[in-house]
Amino acid sequence: MFLVTGATGDIGKRVVRKLRKEETPVRSFVRLSSRYGELEHRGSEIFIGDLREQRDIDKACQGVKYIISAHGSGGDALALDYRANIELIDRAKDVGVEHFVFISVLGADRGYEDAPVFKAKREVEKYLQSSGLNYTILRPAGLASNLLPLAERFEQTGIYLLVGDRQSRTSIISTDDLALMAVDAVSNADARNQIFAVGGPEVLKREDIPQIFSRVYKREPVIINPPLAVVDGLRTAIGLFNADAQKAIGTFRTLLDNEFFCTPAEIERLESVYKIKLETLESFIKRYVGSAD
Ligand SMILES: NC(=O)c1ccc[n+]([C@@H]2O[C@H](COP(=O)([O-])OP(=O)(O)OC[C@H]3O[C@@H](n4cnc5c(N)ncnc54)[C@H](OP(=O)(O)O)[C@@H]3O)[C@@H](O)[C@H]2O)c1
Repeated sequence: MFLVTGATGDIGKRVVRKLRKEETPVRSFVRLSSRYGELEHRGSEIFIGDLREQRDIDKACQGVKYIISAHGSGGDALALDYRANIELIDRAKDVGVEHFVFISVLGADRGYEDAPVFKAKREVEKYLQSSGLNYTILRPAGLASNLLPLAERFEQTGIYLLVGDRQSRTSIISTDDLALMAVDAVSNADARNQIFAVGGPEVLKREDIPQIFSRVYKREPVIINPPLAVVDGLRTAIGLFNADAQKAIGTFRTLLDNEFFCTPAEIERLESVYKIKLETLESFIKRYVGSAD
């Protein structure tokens, strides 16, 4: 039995789809408010809970052999990126889980002081590495699925909002490729107890993204390019009445202000360990054009 957290998220739902396609038993950890109908329809067991609740994590882990931790935090890095994962790792040890896959983030080890999500991910990585469990840590750059809503807006308006440096480099990963790696990792000896930087096959400049949309939709892009100072202004204003939200924006700012791309050696390693040909962003967008997700 697999336990998948964040099962309704962009990565998690693809993980569950893949597992169910192979008719593998899977338990999806979802909230009552989540949109989990599709997962149930595909034959996943549904566990209703909240990852902020230790009791729910305890129960969800009963009888589980593999865990894929793919939940997000929506701003509460301490409770969800940190505590919930530490709790999952502790319970995994108690119930004898055979392999734990953790979705981290590219740059988790760069020591960004202002980014709670990155700090939480790094601490969880270290905890997992010293837990004695078999593990695989995947550190993705940006997910291609994040761009689908932007692509839809582009299709309608031709507008692309690019905050900050246009030349900044990124390796957008196909969310389907990432889900495949997460599932394969538990049975792939070369992925055991390894950390992988995960990106797509090409290093893109951020300004390449509207050009890709332009080719897909055959429409000239109108790029709106405010400076990063706009985010700083917003952050200062929000900080006047909500210190927590101000801290959460720190992670967002870190993402905008730094480069997140993989080296050719890192890409080669992914393709060789997981025996896949990584998908380009353009191919991913084309596959999803006109589909709901
Ligand atoms: N997006 C990126 O570009 C990116 C890049 C690198 C790493 N990552 C990492 O990848 C992981 C998944 O990202 P994503 O973009 O796929 O996330 P997402 O689409 O935003 O999904 C977040 C998931 O977490 C669940 N969740 C949130 N709070 C919860 C709670 N209290 N209890 C139970 N479930 C809860 C959500 O459930 P509901 O459906 O109920 O909201 C949802 O299934 C995260 O760990 C993220 O840090 C993402």
